Amino acid sequence: MADGTDQKSSNQMWGGRFASGPSAIMEEINASIGFDKKLYAQDIRGSMAHAAMLASKGIISPEDKDKITEGLNTILSEIESGSFEFSRKLEDIHMNIEARLATLIGPAAGRLHTARSRNDQVALDFRLWVKEELQKTEGMLTALIAAFLDHAEENADTVMPGFTHLQTAQPVTFGHHCMAYVEMFGRDRARVRHAIEHMDESPIGAAALAGTGYPIDRHMTAKALGFREPTRNSIDTVSDRDFALEFLSIASICATHLSRLAEEIVIWSTPQFGFIRLSDAFSTGSSIMPQKKNPDAAELVRAKTGRINGSLIALLTVMKGLPLAYSKDMQEDKEQVFDSAESLELAIAAMTGMIRDLEVRKDRMRAAAGSGYSTATDLADWLVREAGLPFRDAHHVTGNAVALAEKKGCDLADLSLEELQAIHPGITNSVFDVLSVEASVASRTSFGGTAPSEVRKQIAWWRGRN
Ligand code: ARG
Repeated sequence: MADGTDQKSSNQMWGGRFASGPSAIMEEINASIGFDKKLYAQDIRGSMAHAAMLASKGIISPEDKDKITEGLNTILSEIESGSFEFSRKLEDIHMNIEARLATLIGPAAGRLHTARSRNDQVALDFRLWVKEELQKTEGMLTALIAAFLDHAEENADTVMPGFTHLQTAQPVTFGHHCMAYVEMFGRDRARVRHAIEHMDESPIGAAALAGTGYPIDRHMTAKALGFREPTRNSIDTVSDRDFALEFLSIASICATHLSRLAEEIVIWSTPQFGFIRLSDAFSTGSSIMPQKKNPDAAELVRAKTGRINGSLIALLTVMKGLPLAYSKDMQEDKEQVFDSAESLELAIAAMTGMIRDLEVRKDRMRAAAGSGYSTATDLADWLVREAGLPFRDAHHVTGNAVALAEKKGCDLADLSLEELQAIHPGITNSVFDVLSVEASVASRTSFGGTAPSEVRKQIAWWRGRN
């Protein structure tokens, strides 16, 4: 809390019409410098581009532009070296920087805010930040996909049980399972790219909400700041935060994918499943049970999803009742995005490390793949194909075979030909060719199916795109 002495003087940036300063509580609720200082680099870059444009249009003098640029460079190094003193009285990063500029260069600093407002300034800074964060996310997803492609290649014919309802369903290959995640993270990355394209428009020059009468060149600032073009409506520019919402929804979907993967890692690394071994680098021990190796990183990735989903709902709720154009409510956009960005980066990095280091226990996967009558569908398909049964009848006959195997406590492949023929006389010796898990996966050659040949095709397709 501030000490209350603030009331004596009004704000030096906008206090012209105010007789006294804000109450301590007002300052507390109003200030965003505690978190929006993260935008310092974007703010300085934006101001430099704005000043250069103002000078090139003759709105400020070249001398003032040079002073402003030099002053901003000094501020940049002050902030990066940690010597800059942030003040809560100055509310936010924009006014902290501008006030310091005035101290450094004098009256020329006051010309920087010509033809702009904090409304387009914050829209610019935040958009630049989110765009850069998405570019980083894109690269991180590429690394995660690469880690999966390596395992998929290595395990294109490693047989494991495929599950539905977490009950053994049909044999699949671990390579195929890995490629399912490549598809998910590939779509996440496509969403990231699409969002970058969406937000590639420069807000600066929209001013408070109505544009400006100064002869500014918004195309020039857009180009200088690496945007495709300027935004086309000044009201929309300062009032929407859909670029932040888009970031949060992409982050939520991606975190949900990561969380499902984390859950599988937790399950697979139990002694009961034993499908994988996590590296020591990505697990922890127990302080009381010496035998334990816990998948903490996976569990925390799973938990981060809660924060990220929460941020999306928080910002949607902030935005849903706001009339156009800017309202101060929108200041609450940043913490949600910053927190989610940090959580998502950490989650992707931890997952990439875990996946890269993962030891695949092929023997355990193979043993589990054969249990639970996982080739029952193959028997039914054989009856359709070789004995001419309608699928529904074949399903029934296979059910009888499963019941018999269950009664005898053996696998389907362990039943004798005589026993199978007693269930259906059309069954011949060739049925045993399809009852093995290897034969089962090899037969699933439909496009996108689990046959090793098909999985290798999909790996090649992704290699060409990663
Ligand atoms: N700190 C503010 C925010 O993050 C900057 C914009 C302030 N605009 C205003 N009209 N008070 O939204």
